[in-house]
Amino acid sequence: MSDLLDRLRDVVGAAHVLTDDADVAAHEVDWTGVHRGRALAVVRPASTAEVAEVVRACAAARTPVVPQGGNTGLVGGGVPDGSGTAVVLSLTRMRTVRDVDPVAGTITVDAGVVLADVQAAAAAAGRLFPMSLGSEGSCTIGGNLATNAGGTAVLRYGMTRELVLGLEVVLPDGRVWDGLRGLRKDNTGYDLTQLFVGSEGTLGVITGAVLRLFPATPRHATAWVAVPSVRDAVSLLALAQREAGAHLTTFEIANRQALDLVLAHLPGAVDPLEAPSDWYVLVELAGTATDDGLDDALERLLSLGVDAGAVTDAAVATGPARRDALWALREGISEVQKVEGATLKHDVTLPIARLADWTEAMGHRLQEVLPGVRPVTYGHVGDGNLHYNLNAPSPDGASRDDDLRAAATDLSTAIHDAVAAEHGSISAEHGLGRTKAAAAAAYKSDVEVDLMRAVKHALDPDGLLNPGVLLPPRAGS
Ligand code: FAD
Ligand code: MLT
Ligand code: ZN
Repeated sequence: MSDLLDRLRDVVGAAHVLTDDADVAAHEVDWTGVHRGRALAVVRPASTAEVAEVVRACAAARTPVVPQGGNTGLVGGGVPDGSGTAVVLSLTRMRTVRDVDPVAGTITVDAGVVLADVQAAAAAAGRLFPMSLGSEGSCTIGGNLATNAGGTAVLRYGMTRELVLGLEVVLPDGRVWDGLRGLRKDNTGYDLTQLFVGSEGTLGVITGAVLRLFPATPRHATAWVAVPSVRDAVSLLALAQREAGAHLTTFEIANRQALDLVLAHLPGAVDPLEAPSDWYVLVELAGTATDDGLDDALERLLSLGVDAGAVTDAAVATGPARRDALWALREGISEVQKVEGATLKHDVTLPIARLADWTEAMGHRLQEVLPGVRPVTYGHVGDGNLHYNLNAPSPDGASRDDDLRAAATDLSTAIHDAVAAEHGSISAEHGLGRTKAAAAAAYKSDVEVDLMRAVKHALDPDGLLNPGVLLPPRAGS
């Protein structure tokens, strides 16, 4: 192995092959703190050519490679297993915005560029890159593409796969596929770009991307809305789609348990409404500089919601600071759940028409599995995507994390079975990683799993790129 490490030092420079425990530690554990592995080394190339050399050297040494971006993934896909045999390939030195073309509506970036920096580069050119995640200050475009990330603007702009036109990818044998064509029309065969989107580092290492830009939307109308139930949230969504049309950008839900955790753990957080409600919706309309009437549209929507009994109260943002404060209540939830204690995450999609009944039935079912378990339910209800995350019972104010851990398999199985029964998805936007690879395969048909394995084998016959992620190991191997 020291031969491989010497070769890697030749390629990227000794300073960028990390092997000391203190240097590699942060790369061996994921954001949740649940997934911990061990790396042979962490390698930090600075260019596509260096990535290609690193991958080629690892292939020659039959050493697994785990691509890693900002390490904000929530399913353990960017951290190695516990064997200490894999090289973590960190893209974070590849941070160049290669080109911005406002007329073509494209931005071309290195895979290691942080999402917030892509947004800023687009804004500097008077355009919008619309992807928006709570982790945008740390996650990278390569990670966003590899997970096909969603976020809070999917309702209007779509998932990551709808925001990409072309990719540059280092293949498992070290060859480079240059697919950086920013064409909107290109029907010349299989769509290789889309093959790599959502492949979670198992088919290739994304090194560059051409992304789509949109007209800037400097105008916003934002409200934190109290709704009695999930059913009312869905009724309000239907009204919002009718009243706000294309301006409707965000429609997020949170239960009272989620808000309570934010108020308890997020410094400065204040409940914007006087009376507590079981459920809330964060709704935002966004428009260009010439789009007048967003505030009126929001007022009309809320008033129709009150008339329909779907809205009991609302706080409307009166300026940027107030808007930020309302957004913080939503975006702070992941972080405060972690502060509260052990968290069991479920990232599910259901047909929107089934959300209300499903959530109600699930709440009862889980109390049978673990009395007192606390569903912290929130997410992108406009996309049918709930983060049905659980915190431990806390009968006397202290989170009983061991009880949650002991019941984890039963709780997750109950949730995933109930999702499958509705023909939903057990991973809406976070991917499968190590956490859900086996579960997802169990819910898929043999045909689907065979096709996925065939694609993997065609590109990575030796199985060296992110083994154990997305597809579970075959039985007996
Ligand atoms: P990493 O965590 O480093 O890696 C994720 C996966 O991508 C791994 O399988 C890894 O091997 C692979 N990968 C990374 N870079 C590359 C590359 N260049 N080439 C090939 N494979 C690569 N996700 C959502 O979808 N919506 C949300 O709303 C959302 N909110 C979040 C909020 C918080 C507070 C946090 C912590 C996370 C959130 N996430 C969300 C999850 C996470 O931020 C996304 O999955 C993100 O896309 C991961 O990017 P990353 O650069 O951190 O990737
Ligand atoms: C979010 O939307 O905040 C995250 O995707 C959810 C999570 O952290 O589970
Ligand atoms: Zn989310």
